[in-house]
Amino acid sequence: MSPQQRSNGCFWRMSSALVFASLALMLLPSSEAFDALDPTGNVTILWNINTWTGDGYIAQVNMFNYQKFRKINPPGWALNFTWTDGEIIWNMQGAVTTEQGNCSKIVVAGGAFPYCCAPTPTVMDKSKDALGEVPGCCKDGVLTAWAQDSNNSFTSWRLQVGNASKLNSVAGFKPPTNFTLLNDGYTCTEPISVTPTISYVKGARTQALVTLEVVCTYTSVVAKPVPACCVSLSAFYNDTIVPCASCACACGNYSSKATVCTLSGEKDTPFLSADVSQKILRRQPTARICSPDGCPVSIHYHIKQNYEDYWRAKITIINRELYNNWTDWNLAIEHPNFANLTEAFSFDIEQIQPFGVNNTAIMWGRKDYNKILAPAGGDGNVQSELLFAKVPDFTFSEGWAFPRRVVFNGEECVMPDEFPTLPNSASRLPGFSALLVGALIAFFISTVLIL
Ligand SMILES: *[C@@H]1O[C@H](CO)[C@@H](O)[C@H](O)[C@H]1NC(C)=O
Ligand SMILES: *[C@@H]1O[C@H](CO)[C@@H](O)[C@H](O)[C@H]1NC(C)=O
Ligand SMILES: *[C@@H]1O[C@H](CO)[C@@H](O)[C@H](O)[C@H]1NC(C)=O
Ligand SMILES: *[C@@H]1O[C@H](CO)[C@@H](O)[C@H](O)[C@H]1NC(C)=O
Ligand SMILES: *[C@@H]1O[C@H](CO)[C@@H](O)[C@H](O)[C@H]1NC(C)=O
Ligand SMILES: *[C@@H]1O[C@H](CO)[C@@H](O)[C@H](O)[C@H]1NC(C)=O
Ligand SMILES: *[C@@H]1O[C@H](CO)[C@@H](O)[C@H](O)[C@H]1NC(C)=O
Ligand SMILES: *[C@@H]1O[C@H](CO)[C@@H](O)[C@H](O)[C@H]1NC(C)=O
Ligand SMILES: *[C@@H]1O[C@H](CO)[C@@H](O)[C@H](O)[C@H]1NC(C)=O
Ligand SMILES: *[C@@H]1O[C@H](CO)[C@@H](O)[C@H](O)[C@H]1NC(C)=O
Ligand SMILES: *[C@@H]1O[C@H](CO)[C@@H](O)[C@H](O)[C@H]1NC(C)=O
Repeated sequence: MSPQQRSNGCFWRMSSALVFASLALMLLPSSEAFDALDPTGNVTILWNINTWTGDGYIAQVNMFNYQKFRKINPPGWALNFTWTDGEIIWNMQGAVTTEQGNCSKIVVAGGAFPYCCAPTPTVMDKSKDALGEVPGCCKDGVLTAWAQDSNNSFTSWRLQVGNASKLNSVAGFKPPTNFTLLNDGYTCTEPISVTPTISYVKGARTQALVTLEVVCTYTSVVAKPVPACCVSLSAFYNDTIVPCASCACACGNYSSKATVCTLSGEKDTPFLSADVSQKILRRQPTARICSPDGCPVSIHYHIKQNYEDYWRAKITIINRELYNNWTDWNLAIEHPNFANLTEAFSFDIEQIQPFGVNNTAIMWGRKDYNKILAPAGGDGNVQSELLFAKVPDFTFSEGWAFPRRVVFNGEECVMPDEFPTLPNSASRLPGFSALLVGALIAFFISTVLIL
């Protein structure tokens, strides 16, 4: 290769890398940016055939929530698929099908009656209705986020399949098809055959005869076309609190008189009176404190203190909804100083490296302390402080100390258009007056913003 060709090749690689980088930026709308923080996040379903039975097989299905931040919330997961060989389900443990279907064609041997003959069964985890348990099962369909609580992020169920063509081996096996995770925002692949699962029970090893894998991925814009949270900012060196962007989540019919709003689009009761009863709220579970941003949750980020080698930020998550709890909430924040986070108070925290860069942390509440974000009105907020060791890039100017991206429960939060700027005169920080302003702002936030 001549030097000329080599440098051309190099130029081509550089320019294509640039084109790719700018394309990637253009192709990543902010509402999908969550996926950028968890690019391989998925729900994986493994359909393990353990025994051939003559008219079908016995399978154990394992379902894993491999999403770092996204929990599958109540009322839980629901999955449907289509049989391709007229199969029926003789029995099922650890999950239920929502209907039985028409079993009248099935010749019943010895009085046995099939559990489900629907050609497209829908399977759910309704713990109280499940006939028998399978290890890992029966979580009422709730699967926690993987980074946060991996022990509760999977489930299992078992089924005996019958009425398949005289089937005794993989040769005659026709996989079910068209798996759909019915929860909003997920799309699933067709099943593919993978290396059969090996499992260990009390040290004894068993390997499935066949394992099918279905991978479901979540797209934020499909599930929630409207953002679900927003960010407000303040700093000790400026007494302006930059609020959430107006209409960040909804342009509700906001009026300063109303204290309770429902989401725009829910037409029946635009305003509820201030002293709404729990009974009314059950029917309007997304009713919330009115705000110009219309968001159900807001995140306040305050730059609290400056030390010689460290700086401190305070985070407050505020639930504006009057009925809904957020149990097992989580918050991801991207900021270049996270590589040098020294301490996080009151929250559990784990650093992650999207794209190999150590600039993001995911945090969540502690058991029996703040893992439930209660409804607005009472203790509708949770708080933490973060202590960072200053990196060489550290500065308070240009808004450097504010987060680049905030993600609540896997949903990207809307950032405001501006940030509190440094006063021109305050190049030497912290002066006494700055600390005083900081104390005043902290007081203001704790008394006003938190309701
Ligand atoms: C699904 O997630 C698991 C765990 O992170 C990962 O190993 C796997 O590659 C992912 N699958 C796909 C298709 O992204
Ligand atoms: C699963 O349910 C969805 C929604 O009810 C439906 O659109 C889809 O056709 C069903 N899938 C199959 C394989 O029948
Ligand atoms: C069971 O198998 C028979 C024969 O293959 C088929 O006609 C029938 O549709 C299958 N399913 C049910 C629910 O009867
Ligand atoms: C059930 O299937 C049988 C046989 O195919 C049919 O005669 C009957 O009408 C079906 N029942 C219902 C409720 O669809
Ligand atoms: C998960 O389960 C293992 C084994 O039971 C236990 O050692 C570990 O502490 C659990 N982790 C959490 C986060 O509960
Ligand atoms: C699976 O879904 C696709 C698209 O909805 C449909 O064309 C196909 O017929 C379905 N396959 C079966 C076996 O139902
Ligand atoms: C907003 O609410 C007020 C009071 O309920 C009502 O009079 C007005 O028509 C509403 N405006 C819109 C645009 O919905
Ligand atoms: C919220 O949590 C509290 C305390 O755990 C519980 O009493 C209440 O029923 C929950 N409310 C909802 C709507 O889940
Ligand atoms: C990221 O930063 C944390 C905290 O300083 C450190 O423990 C971890 O090893 C770093 N990871 C990488 C990949 O640099
Ligand atoms: C910041 O973190 C990096 C990588 O973990 C480390 O090399 C560096 O010494 C840290 N800087 C400070 C000021 O702690
Ligand atoms: C505080 O920040 C706001 C918003 O960026 C800015 O308009 C204002 O001038 C700042 N105040 C001072 C005293 O610098």
